[in-house]
Amino acid sequence: TGPAPRLTVIGTGYLGATHAICMAVLGYDVLGVDVDPDKIERLASGEVPFFEPGLPELLAKALDSGRLRFTTSFAEAGAFGDVHFICVGTPQQKGSYAADLTYVDAAVTELARHIRGPALVVGKSTVPVGTAARLTELLHKTAPAGADAQLAWNPEFLREGYAVDDTLRPDRLVFGTTSAWAEERLRAAFAPVIAQGTPVVVTDLPTAELVKVAANSFLATKISYINAMAEVCEATGADVTGLATALSYDDRIGGRFLKPGLGFGGGCLPKDIRAFTHRAEELGVGQAVAFLREVDGINQRRRARTVDLVRELAGGALAGRRITALGAAFKPNSDDIRDAPALDVARTLHAAGAVVTVVDPAAVPNARRAYPELTYATDALAAAAGSDVVVLLTEWAQFREIDPHVMGDVVAHRRIVDGRHALDSVQWRTAGWDYRALGRP
Ligand code: UDX
Repeated sequence: TGPAPRLTVIGTGYLGATHAICMAVLGYDVLGVDVDPDKIERLASGEVPFFEPGLPELLAKALDSGRLRFTTSFAEAGAFGDVHFICVGTPQQKGSYAADLTYVDAAVTELARHIRGPALVVGKSTVPVGTAARLTELLHKTAPAGADAQLAWNPEFLREGYAVDDTLRPDRLVFGTTSAWAEERLRAAFAPVIAQGTPVVVTDLPTAELVKVAANSFLATKISYINAMAEVCEATGADVTGLATALSYDDRIGGRFLKPGLGFGGGCLPKDIRAFTHRAEELGVGQAVAFLREVDGINQRRRARTVDLVRELAGGALAGRRITALGAAFKPNSDDIRDAPALDVARTLHAAGAVVTVVDPAAVPNARRAYPELTYATDALAAAAGSDVVVLLTEWAQFREIDPHVMGDVVAHRRIVDGRHALDSVQWRTAGWDYRALGRP
């Protein structure tokens, strides 16, 4: 099999930084590349520019080992690497559902110019199906004559908050390749992970691209399914938490991603289902995934319904009411506020005239930068002083552990909306709170 390949990771955002650090910890020589000199400088000095449990320790270890370096130079990347991972972002375009591929195109173009000798370029970014075929042409057109460059696809399934574990011990590896050589290179680049017994699915480029969006669409659909049942529960007096528990004991359904509440957000699920819808329409198979529009719609309605519950508890009007919003991040153990349901709700309450204080253990700096009009705090008890309604929007452990008696002593009214079914309703009601939750009587 020859010596271990030398790896570059192009794009050191969330996905790329995690991948680069983990690969170095697994024993590869890795070069992280980014066009943002500030990001590169921070990573090179041992600072992870985002919140991810366990990652700072691994970065220190990787830097100490001498196996991980960072650069802004694509020339250096081309000279250094045998296998190049493309990990740049593919955000939603402004004013459209389509994915913005300018960063992917730029990364492949810049890298291709500097490739020497045989090299494998591996796409990891989430892209519309068909992108890899187009990038293959771009690569061959741009790489110097005689440089043997091939493209492969290796989708990434890591979850924020569990990124290290998901990278070091993934459920599966998916390799989209067009040659035995590319497959052999990828197997060499993941040898320690494969040695643990991780299943490897080797397939073609379009299938590999599709696996990612198909997986995220399924997960989004599962969440919206139980949230649709919550809407039905609300109309019938049934309890969606009991319903979800009963469904979860059916092995064919399972309990994971069946948690009802405020719904999904983040940098992946919402944008991926929209980009998928858009791409399917371009391909003439829009009808096949038309249900994803409804999945998105159900998800958006949960946000509106949460605002309605707060308004009801506040006595029918929001103007001038003091609201304590627990949570800003799109989920716990993250400082990511991209498409965060929590901040969407907080901003709607604020726009309706409520006096909103947003509490979050990690996401306040990001939230403040994006929405300076809101008031922020990191301590829930201090923030809740004099509050008319408390609303739990992100289920951080700190919020689950709040003592309803202690918080009850500082608020003006003991009223709480539990947007994530994270609190013990009996305990809160016993402590004198008017407790409301989506999909529960
Ligand atoms: C997701 C996918 O899980 C991952 O495989 C992919 O690579 C990237 O997108 P991530 O965005 O980190 O990962 O978050 P995830 O843990 O999947 O949660 C997504 C959203 O769904 C969160 O807002 C969460 O609060 C919500 N959610 C999740 C629910 O509302 N109910 C659930 O049962 C599960």
